[in-house]
Amino acid sequence: MIDLAPSILSADFAHLADQVRSAAEGGATVIHVDIMDGHFVPNLTIGPPVVKSLRKATDLPLDCHLMIENPDDFIPIFIEAGADWVSVHQEACRHLNRTLHHIREHGAQVGVVLNPATPVDTLEEVLDLVDYVLVMSVNPGFGGQKFIPGSLHKMRQLREIRVVRNLNYRIEVDGGVALDTVGDVVRAGAEILVAGNAVFGQGDPKVNAQMLLKAAAEATLQKV
Ligand code: DX5
Ligand code: ZN
Repeated sequence: MIDLAPSILSADFAHLADQVRSAAEGGATVIHVDIMDGHFVPNLTIGPPVVKSLRKATDLPLDCHLMIENPDDFIPIFIEAGADWVSVHQEACRHLNRTLHHIREHGAQVGVVLNPATPVDTLEEVLDLVDYVLVMSVNPGFGGQKFIPGSLHKMRQLREIRVVRNLNYRIEVDGGVALDTVGDVVRAGAEILVAGNAVFGQGDPKVNAQMLLKAAAEATLQKV
């Protein structure tokens, strides 16, 4: 099953509820929310009040991608505000095992994220603790960047490890996912597709979401 998770980073923040509704009408099944602190990544975005408002605007799960330092301090706050899924960066967590347990204890789905320069084997000891692994296919911080093809082998690797170790995590991809790259990421094993610019950048989010899902479905048939 493929989930399309539009990233609101590229949405019109003055019309967030309408934009999210439109993407949902086009088949989006998750809403991806990029939380940036100006320290872990060189950009600032949104905080708990926006998550709280989004929670009232949609029934879709809210996937909060924390690009922040000391995520432990904020995990309960974002979950209280309405986050259903919470992911933290391997690179931001000194005590990754503890942080992942912390997310689970507060009742959200647990995700771990890898920057483009971080190998999959850094997650060896935590893969059994997570519901999903997010492979960044751009350096985090901004929407609309170019897809890094070197990230594809990490999705394949995660797919293989899942079989060998009989684990259940899902594979998410984030960054530069658009009509020209969606086929490659699906064939590599991605099942949760984050797309910001390709959904909200221009045109109608509903049509954009439909087109991405159509391309993803075609690639699923070609998966080897
Ligand atoms: C990047 C964010 C992404 C971003 C993706 O730091 O984590 O979620 O919004 O945007 P696109 O799809 O435009 O690359
Ligand atoms: Zn993201």
